[in-house]
Amino acid sequence: MIKILGISGSLRAQSYNSALLRAAQTLVDTGVTLDAATLHDIPLYDGDLEQREGLPAPVADLKERIVASDGVLLVTPEYNNGIPGVFKNAIDWLSRPPADIPRVFGHRPFAVIGASPGGFGTILSQNAWLPVLKALGTRNWSGGRLMVSRAHLAFDEHGELRDEAIRTQLGDFLRGFAASIGG
Ligand SMILES: Cc1cc2nc3c(=O)[nH]c(=O)nc-3n(C[C@H](O)[C@H](O)[C@H](O)COP(=O)(O)O)c2cc1C
Repeated sequence: MIKILGISGSLRAQSYNSALLRAAQTLVDTGVTLDAATLHDIPLYDGDLEQREGLPAPVADLKERIVASDGVLLVTPEYNNGIPGVFKNAIDWLSRPPADIPRVFGHRPFAVIGASPGGFGTILSQNAWLPVLKALGTRNWSGGRLMVSRAHLAFDEHGELRDEAIRTQLGDFLRGFAASIGG
């Protein structure tokens, strides 16, 4: 069994990125699981809080979910051509303490997808993830790309993926990522 952990970088109930992650969960092959994590309970990074109390429980829990996974799928929105603060904040917490980075991130397969109502489908935030993941030492899968543009057309009002071409691309992406982990 290949265990992938998907993390949506949006807190919105109607998030296209969370909807994309839910769609992905329905498309993984037999022998692959895709659990979904959200960032709702993660506080703003505060070095004083860390020194006083250590890692907040939701951060420690998410870290262990990453450690228990065989690979991580980041489903990223794009804000102002970059990574939304909510998502970057979570990764910053997860990178603490630095001595734990190899255990949590080191050589772990990571892949990035994203959805945006705009025309470029998070290409810039996906690019912005690259130096962050490089700093953490992850093994980034680059065998496929998925940028869902015009997300308001790709999903219906219930957050169901209704664009068959994207569904196919998403399935191919997941198969390729899982194969890279399993192989
Ligand atoms: C502060 C802010 C900045 C944004 N900047 C961009 C951007 O640079 N590129 C883009 O494609 N969409 C941008 N958007 C639109 C988001 O893609 C859109 O709100 C999207 O629905 C967010 O993802 P979600 O649906 O998963 O919450 C921005 C939205 C906000 C709130």
